[in-house]
Amino acid sequence: MNRGRLHFLLYGSLTLLAAALVVTLIIPKDENLPSGNGAGAASSALADTRQWLQDAILPIPRPAENTLSGKAQLGEKLFNDPQLSADGTISCASCHILAQGGDDGLRLSRGVGNAVGVVNAPTVFNSVFSFRQFWDGRAGNLAEQVAGPLLDPSEMASNWGIAIRRVKENPAYRDDFRREYGGEISERTITDALVNFEVSLLTPNAPFDRFLNGDTTAIDSETQEGFRRFTDYGCISCHQGIGVGGNFFQRFGIMGDYFADRGTTTKADLGRYNITKREEDRHVFKVPSLRNVAVTAPYFHDGSAATLDEAIDIMGRYQLGRTLSEEDRRYISAFLKSLTGEYRGEALQP
Ligand code: HEC
Ligand code: HEC
Repeated sequence: MNRGRLHFLLYGSLTLLAAALVVTLIIPKDENLPSGNGAGAASSALADTRQWLQDAILPIPRPAENTLSGKAQLGEKLFNDPQLSADGTISCASCHILAQGGDDGLRLSRGVGNAVGVVNAPTVFNSVFSFRQFWDGRAGNLAEQVAGPLLDPSEMASNWGIAIRRVKENPAYRDDFRREYGGEISERTITDALVNFEVSLLTPNAPFDRFLNGDTTAIDSETQEGFRRFTDYGCISCHQGIGVGGNFFQRFGIMGDYFADRGTTTKADLGRYNITKREEDRHVFKVPSLRNVAVTAPYFHDGSAATLDEAIDIMGRYQLGRTLSEEDRRYISAFLKSLTGEYRGEALQP
């Protein structure tokens, strides 16, 4: 390890002790995190914390090869095909625009017949790393997720009967499915092909990942300072790992009532509660991944924050009980921008 990186890690370790305390308070014990308390344990906590910092954000692996498997190529066709929707107008790609961050840039998505959705569309990039899918985590994995938009009246307003029939009517698809699935065109194979494509939607080579991989020139000092504050203030206690988020659920509004302050409340604001009906899950959401967050405005499940600066400010206030200075926000924003990766060799654009 070169000296610049070592310095950075050591400094980060010290400041992380504070964050580690936050972590032990708010994160379930089974997470792989330090348990640094008690005077005698201090030095081992420091070692643990250093290890944790090294592991706190992992770089996204580069795909082994640049060619997609036959199943993934078929999935890509399906992903881009509006024929799967009820009226043939909306594809997955209508709301997950791969050239623009993998989301749609709208506060709330628009589906078939211009129907307005109830939550902001997250990016599809790197979603394979998330522990569950959707803001409220109702899908356990990508395969369970696929039927969601297909059947949702405010998205593709379709059903499996329509989707399967449209695929069967298309001779090119019949060839593809013969080759990849022995001719079976069904809910199972359509889902499987889409999932094969989705797992290929990785964005490696972000400046911060290049830095983690040992290139100390990949990020400037402002970005390093931003990462220090991100860890120092405790953002990293919720947003970490390979996705810089996507590992567990948390309440939105721990240090203040975000929803009361925002005004009216919708059913979607109840988050995880809609699934479990448990009081403690009210306003609880999957902590989103911050990968490519600089190109996926607007923010939050309600799309209420138009800019990254605003989102950082709200996070400071409602998740950490702190008012972040203009300088804090500028540095943290520089760090978050260094999480923008590449898709097919091109840096993602807003
Ligand atoms: C009309 C817009 C729209 C269409 C079409 C659409 N999505 Fe989505 N997608 C969304 C919205 C909105 C969400 C968030 C829904 C929620 O969390 O309740 C979402 C969530 C997701 C997620 C979960 C991401 C995460 O971080 O939790 C994945 C994966 C995904 N969509 C893939 C797809 C695929 C595959 C298709 C096509 C079969 C598709 N989407 C079609 C708008 C859309
Ligand atoms: C206690 C856990 C927790 C902490 C600490 C935390 N966040 Fe979050 N963060 C969340 C949750 C949960 C959401 C989703 C909120 C929602 O939309 O319902 C979120 C959403 C975000 C988003 C919006 C992402 C998107 O795609 O819409 C950004 C940006 C963000 N956080 C940055 C930060 C920053 C910067 C900090 C530190 C100042 C921070 N977070 C601290 C839990 C946390």
